[in-house]
Amino acid sequence: MKISVIGAGNVGATCADVVARGGYANEVVLLDIKEGISEGKALDIWQTAPIGYYSTRLTGVTNDYAATAGSNITIITSGVPRKPGMSRDDLIGTNAGIVKSVTENVVKYSPDTIIIVVSNPLDVMTYCAYLTSGFNPQKVMGMAGILDTARYRAFLATELNISPKEIQAVLMGGHGDTMVPLPRYTTVAGIPVTELVPADRLNAIVDRTTNGGAELVKLMGTSAWYAPGAAAAQMAESIAKNERRVFPCCVWLQGEYGLQDIFLGVPVILGQNGVEKIIELDLNADEKGLLTKSAEAVKTVMGVLDGMKLFG
Ligand code: NAI
Ligand code: 2OP
Repeated sequence: MKISVIGAGNVGATCADVVARGGYANEVVLLDIKEGISEGKALDIWQTAPIGYYSTRLTGVTNDYAATAGSNITIITSGVPRKPGMSRDDLIGTNAGIVKSVTENVVKYSPDTIIIVVSNPLDVMTYCAYLTSGFNPQKVMGMAGILDTARYRAFLATELNISPKEIQAVLMGGHGDTMVPLPRYTTVAGIPVTELVPADRLNAIVDRTTNGGAELVKLMGTSAWYAPGAAAAQMAESIAKNERRVFPCCVWLQGEYGLQDIFLGVPVILGQNGVEKIIELDLNADEKGLLTKSAEAVKTVMGVLDGMKLFG
């Protein structure tokens, strides 16, 4: 199993580290355009192997896509992160060109790879990688839902003073202010969360989740990386080990949830072929309304990408 991570910045390096520790890949390649950064970070991570007791080999390269040849999975994290006051959508002008050129190089050397996009604006950058690759949509997906759900679960664990392991949750929609956490599908060791957390507290937690990325940008001056890197690695792990785990992922919808021709976050089964199945929940009218609003927001940004005329 060979996994390449494009972009050796905060998220990419963290993701490579988590993948390497997981031990399910025998080879991890880290690639960046900044001279020496991938080589240095890959070497540093490799030097944790004798401490962490794993055998995954790491290679770092500067823009040398030949080294990524034959990757089974490629995780794209290259691009600029947002600064305080910016939305994820503000990044499209810079990141669309980066994701397009990176994807072209990736598919040239790994025509059978599965692509996991992390770069923002996530839903539309996944669409950009899909258009560029010409791949079956089963093999192109974006990471956002695992991160957003993890934030929601972490906030609930703090609220209830219990282990986050006990909290299961579903969150849908785009990776932005319109994301849709679903309390009706949130349980604590099988108990509906609505029986344990009062409505006003639950609403406050949903609101904090929706703004979870911005909270961290405000604190750090740049966006998060530990949870995003770990979340992308978890998707790779389910695919690499054919675990068939169920996660909210950004995938191509063709009529599911009444939505057409859009990359959006929904629950899916992830296995060796990528997106093995899209799970359709029986949403109530309010939930459907929120998902439709989120889809409209993503469609607007997809329109911005289309307007850039990168695809002829
Ligand atoms: P960073 O600035 O730390 O790293 C980005 C790296 O990409 C840099 O090392 C840069 O040299 C590299 N890069 C730029 N152009 C490249 C190219 N053409 N080829 C290869 N490498 C290139 O940024 P960070 O914090 O790692 O974030 C990366 C992206 O991930 C951002 O767009 C950010 O908004 C997004 N992100 C998405 C999340 C999600 O939930 N989907 C969560 C966190 C970040
Ligand atoms: C996050 O949610 C910025 O998308 C990134 O942290």
